[in-house]
Amino acid sequence: MTRLIDVTVPDIGDYKDVPVIELLVQPGDHIAADDPILTLESDKATMDVPAPVAGIVRELLAKVGDRVSQGSLVMKIETAEGGTAAAAAEAAQAAPPAPVAVPVAAAPAAPPPPPAAEPSAPAALPPALGGKVHASPSVRGYARELGVDLAQVRASGSKGRITREDITTHVKAAMSSGSVPGKTPAAAPGNGLDLLPWPKIDFAKFGPIETQPLSRIKKISGANLSRNAVVIPHVTNFDEADITDLEAFRVALNKEHDKSGRKLTMLAFLIKACVSALRKFPEFNASLDGDNLVLKKYFHIAFAADTPNGLVVPVIRDADRKGLYEIAAEAAELAKKARDGKLGPADMSGGCFTVSSLGGIGGTAFTPIINAPEVAILGVTKAQTKPVWDGQQFVPRLILPLCLSWDHRVVDGVLAARFLVHLQSVLGDFRRISLEG
Ligand code: COA
Repeated sequence: MTRLIDVTVPDIGDYKDVPVIELLVQPGDHIAADDPILTLESDKATMDVPAPVAGIVRELLAKVGDRVSQGSLVMKIETAEGGTAAAAAEAAQAAPPAPVAVPVAAAPAAPPPPPAAEPSAPAALPPALGGKVHASPSVRGYARELGVDLAQVRASGSKGRITREDITTHVKAAMSSGSVPGKTPAAAPGNGLDLLPWPKIDFAKFGPIETQPLSRIKKISGANLSRNAVVIPHVTNFDEADITDLEAFRVALNKEHDKSGRKLTMLAFLIKACVSALRKFPEFNASLDGDNLVLKKYFHIAFAADTPNGLVVPVIRDADRKGLYEIAAEAAELAKKARDGKLGPADMSGGCFTVSSLGGIGGTAFTPIINAPEVAILGVTKAQTKPVWDGQQFVPRLILPLCLSWDHRVVDGVLAARFLVHLQSVLGDFRRISLEG
């Protein structure tokens, strides 16, 4: 016995009317539970919707380009009646699994790319379809945003469809080749990136190699990081905070709560200290929007989380209204979700400022890339005990390196130095936080 299950779009956070950009199954396909069945794309993430049950795809009720929201009927799957399959089906209809999202590095208000990425395509990429272009509305919108002529893009999707990744690849190739037809690098205007082509080397000539495809997260975050590095005039200021007392306090509290499992992390203190600095210097809690600076009255703090597939940036919302334990627990939960590949779009959107901590690993300093459209990011590395002169003698103190990258279109060096001095004073004596209104 079999039964026909209606498959609906699961909880996709705050998103509504999200375009379907790819159907990953066809009628007649045999699928397992959790197999990706279609891909949705918001302005922040692409999401693969997993199959709620194992079975056979009987009918597709959504097509590429349709806009869907939570609860929209997208297909019918025939599943085996009885036993665990039927139970799974009931469960699936009641609570379909959440989609798996891949961030588009939190960059909804992307500044335009440099002119090298404009319509003129690199000569090395022939038009895929020789005229007729197949692409979803969202992919067309993405191409328009970047000024890409779709007729020049090589399509890799099924039936010759151009995907979002095809456009990203096209733009990257155009930027790295610098070979804008009709212009030699010397003749190109001064505002272009007149770069040499990316070196093409047969590495196998020099020794054994293995080629591995980049993960989806790395491809998407790589494109965003490249854009942010090229478009934003980054400057990084460095400073140090004396966290001897703070670390002693943290360790003592963790010992006290050893049995309950409640744990305070340095990351939680850093997030709280950043909220304090953002309150004092609102230019850092802002985003550029054309000629305007949008100042945010909320404090959603993102943090970089390392995963086996690459870097993701989940967001702790309203960190100003949360206690240290709550922030520590939420960060741990989000970091686990990130490592398990289970972050949803809502987990990664709305960030105001990012903290990137390499403190548990090592290093003395680094220059983090700003997570656009934010205007600054704090990097911290490993705290080390150092001799500090107290006016009479050298005393051992635990010193935390701070690295603040900031967007020079919005902030300047004086403000950045003050921001770090404030962080230094709060981290040096956390009681100062309690004095804030
Ligand atoms: N200095 C010295 N030691 C530190 C430290 C610091 N700044 N921060 C953390 N530690 C130590 C602590 O001893 C801690 O153990 P303890 O709490 O039992 O004493 C240990 O490192 C682990 O720290 P923990 O708090 O569990 O993790 P974390 O806060 O260091 O890291 C993440 C959590 C999510 C930030 C981390 O897993 C991660 O993904 N980091 C990578 C960030 C990244 O990729 N950045 C991008 C660079 S381009």
